[in-house]
Amino acid sequence: MTWHVAAQASDLQEGDVLGTVVAGQPVALYRVDGEVFATHNICTHAQACMSDGYLEDGIIECPLHQAQFDVRTGQVISGPTKVPLPCYRARVDGEQVLVELPADGAAPSA
Ligand code: FES
Repeated sequence: MTWHVAAQASDLQEGDVLGTVVAGQPVALYRVDGEVFATHNICTHAQACMSDGYLEDGIIECPLHQAQFDVRTGQVISGPTKVPLPCYRARVDGEQVLVELPADGAAPSA
Protein backbone atom coordinates (compact mmCIF):
# COMPACT_ATOMS: atom_id res chain seq x y z
CA MET A 1 0.00 0.00 0.00
CA THR A 2 1.27 3.45 -0.91
CA TRP A 3 0.11 6.92 0.05
CA HIS A 4 -0.48 9.31 -2.85
CA VAL A 5 -1.29 13.00 -3.05
CA ALA A 6 -4.91 13.17 -4.24
CA ALA A 7 -5.82 16.84 -3.93
CA GLN A 8 -5.12 20.09 -2.17
CA ALA A 9 -6.96 20.24 1.14
CA SER A 10 -8.33 23.67 0.25
CA ASP A 11 -10.10 22.13 -2.77
CA LEU A 12 -12.18 19.87 -0.51
CA GLN A 13 -14.42 21.93 1.73
CA GLU A 14 -16.83 20.61 4.34
CA GLY A 15 -19.70 18.76 2.66
CA ASP A 16 -17.89 18.55 -0.68
CA VAL A 17 -17.30 15.58 -2.96
CA LEU A 18 -14.41 15.83 -5.41
CA GLY A 19 -13.55 13.45 -8.23
CA THR A 20 -9.94 12.85 -9.18
CA VAL A 21 -7.58 10.23 -10.55
CA VAL A 22 -4.86 8.88 -8.29
CA ALA A 23 -2.20 6.55 -9.69
CA GLY A 24 -4.58 5.76 -12.55
CA GLN A 25 -7.53 4.98 -10.25
CA PRO A 26 -10.73 7.02 -10.29
CA VAL A 27 -11.19 8.23 -6.72
CA ALA A 28 -13.89 10.28 -5.03
CA LEU A 29 -12.88 12.38 -2.02
CA TYR A 30 -15.33 13.57 0.61
CA ARG A 31 -15.13 15.86 3.63
CA VAL A 32 -17.64 15.01 6.33
CA ASP A 33 -17.63 16.44 9.86
CA GLY A 34 -14.08 17.69 9.30
CA GLU A 35 -12.72 14.30 8.24
CA VAL A 36 -11.72 13.20 4.75
CA PHE A 37 -12.82 9.94 3.17
CA ALA A 38 -12.12 8.30 -0.17
CA THR A 39 -13.91 5.73 -2.29
CA HIS A 40 -13.63 4.35 -5.77
CA ASN A 41 -15.32 6.92 -8.00
CA ILE A 42 -17.34 4.50 -10.13
CA CYS A 43 -20.66 3.24 -8.82
CA THR A 44 -20.84 -0.51 -8.21
CA HIS A 45 -24.11 -0.65 -10.15
CA ALA A 46 -23.02 0.83 -13.50
CA GLN A 47 -20.66 3.48 -14.85
CA ALA A 48 -21.71 6.63 -13.02
CA CYS A 49 -19.21 8.86 -11.23
CA MET A 50 -19.98 9.16 -7.55
CA SER A 51 -18.37 12.61 -7.60
CA ASP A 52 -21.28 13.75 -9.79
CA GLY A 53 -23.68 12.63 -7.06
CA TYR A 54 -25.25 14.36 -4.10
CA LEU A 55 -23.56 14.24 -0.68
CA GLU A 56 -25.52 14.79 2.51
CA ASP A 57 -24.65 13.74 6.06
CA GLY A 58 -21.94 11.37 4.85
CA ILE A 59 -24.21 9.61 2.36
CA ILE A 60 -23.40 9.87 -1.35
CA GLU A 61 -26.27 9.37 -3.79
CA CYS A 62 -25.40 8.08 -7.25
CA PRO A 63 -26.53 10.51 -9.97
CA LEU A 64 -27.74 7.74 -12.30
CA HIS A 65 -30.10 5.43 -10.37
CA GLN A 66 -29.86 6.97 -6.90
CA ALA A 67 -28.10 4.18 -5.03
CA GLN A 68 -26.90 5.54 -1.70
CA PHE A 69 -23.62 4.64 0.03
CA ASP A 70 -22.07 5.60 3.36
CA VAL A 71 -18.78 7.26 2.34
CA ARG A 72 -17.19 6.24 5.67
CA THR A 73 -17.67 2.51 5.09
CA GLY A 74 -18.80 2.10 1.48
CA GLN A 75 -21.86 0.21 2.67
CA VAL A 76 -25.02 0.37 0.60
CA ILE A 77 -27.79 2.33 2.30
CA SER A 78 -30.36 1.90 -0.47
CA GLY A 79 -30.70 1.46 -4.19
CA PRO A 80 -30.45 -1.02 -7.00
CA THR A 81 -27.02 -2.40 -6.02
CA LYS A 82 -26.10 -4.55 -3.07
CA VAL A 83 -22.35 -4.25 -3.73
CA PRO A 84 -20.52 -1.86 -1.39
CA LEU A 85 -18.35 0.93 -2.74
CA PRO A 86 -14.63 0.16 -2.30
CA CYS A 87 -13.03 2.52 0.21
CA TYR A 88 -9.51 3.84 0.55
CA ARG A 89 -7.81 5.24 3.64
CA ALA A 90 -7.47 9.02 3.41
CA ARG A 91 -5.92 11.75 5.54
CA VAL A 92 -4.91 15.38 5.43
CA ASP A 93 -1.19 16.12 5.71
CA GLY A 94 -0.55 19.86 5.78
CA GLU A 95 -2.14 21.29 2.66
CA GLN A 96 -2.57 17.96 0.91
CA VAL A 97 -5.15 15.17 0.93
CA LEU A 98 -3.44 11.80 0.79
CA VAL A 99 -5.03 8.51 -0.25
CA GLU A 100 -3.62 5.04 0.32
CA LEU A 101 -3.81 2.71 -2.66
CA PRO A 102 -2.60 -0.83 -3.20
CA ALA A 103 0.84 -0.90 -4.81
CA ASP A 104 -0.60 -2.66 -7.87
CA GLY A 105 -3.23 0.07 -8.28
CA ALA A 106 -6.11 -2.36 -7.91
CA ALA A 107 -9.27 -1.20 -6.18
CA PRO A 108 -9.56 -2.70 -2.70
CA SER A 109 -12.48 -4.89 -1.83
CA ALA A 110 -15.08 -3.04 0.21
S1 FES B 1 -25.11 3.61 -11.74
FE1 FES B 1 -25.21 4.10 -9.63
S2 FES B 1 -27.15 3.35 -9.03
FE2 FES B 1 -27.01 2.79 -11.14
